[in-house]
Amino acid sequence: MDSNLTDKVAVISGASHGLGQAVAQDLAARGVHVVMIARGQERLRQAADSIRESGGAATVMPCDVSDVAQVRKAAAEVQRRFDAVHILVNNAGIPAPRSFVETDFNDWDTVIGINLSGVFYLTRALWDCLLRADSAYVINISGTAGTRGGGSPAYGSAKFGLTGLNHAVALAGKEHNIRSTILYPGGMDTGWRGAPIGEMPRSETMDPAEVARFIAQLVSSPPEFVVNEAVLNPLDQPYM
Ligand SMILES: NC(=O)c1ccc[n+]([C@@H]2O[C@H](COP(=O)([O-])OP(=O)(O)OC[C@H]3O[C@@H](n4cnc5c(N)ncnc54)[C@H](OP(=O)(O)O)[C@@H]3O)[C@@H](O)[C@H]2O)c1
Repeated sequence: MDSNLTDKVAVISGASHGLGQAVAQDLAARGVHVVMIARGQERLRQAADSIRESGGAATVMPCDVSDVAQVRKAAAEVQRRFDAVHILVNNAGIPAPRSFVETDFNDWDTVIGINLSGVFYLTRALWDCLLRADSAYVINISGTAGTRGGGSPAYGSAKFGLTGLNHAVALAGKEHNIRSTILYPGGMDTGWRGAPIGEMPRSETMDPAEVARFIAQLVSSPPEFVVNEAVLNPLDQPYM
């Protein structure tokens, strides 16, 4: 338990797997009530059950963050049940075709819809709940693809766009004690793009639990302190 976080409410998108699941587990172990968002209900239910079995408090909220109607419905339900939201982790994301010519219009719309528009939809729909927390924290999960050009056009464009959105949220939130951080993680051991889990050395792929621990430190930091952005890498991943 972390007295600083006990009984706070966190909404986490993409909470049924990978980094989002690790964040939900970590925050719940610190006494946060986690509201877990993802599309697939069965995996979401299993992730929440595992948190409850460990003594944590979890609510499942099936929702596609790229669907405005679903986001509005989920946000209304969060508001009805919890009123205030102290922590929002915009983590849901999907990979995209790697090259320009492999990317068709549908790929573009889907990836921008989830990885960028979905962050705006959820943050905007929960804004009043964030305002009602005395001090709230928004964490936006980008990736190192959001720090340099090249790579997948749709994925990189969404993550670059997220930098602009994070600036806008930080600006809008400042006078209301809403902090916002964008994180640019490198490779994480989540099975991304079908990579085998647990087979690469930790110096080449990060344990998502370690990244989750870093996020917990951010959201439990004093309210007058903010990390605007941070690049997180396994030691052997090229930084420059
Ligand atoms: N893994 C890496 O190496 C890496 C590196 C840099 C950045 N990142 C970023 O880190 C974040 C998490 O990645 P991860 O590796 O943990 O991914 P992951 O293991 O594939 O998990 C993705 C999660 O997002 C959910 N999700 C996907 N689309 C969604 C939608 N439209 N609405 C709601 N939930 C949705 C998934 O559940 P459903 O499919 O059931 O919805 C799942 O819970 C992403 O933003 C990714 O871009 C990852």
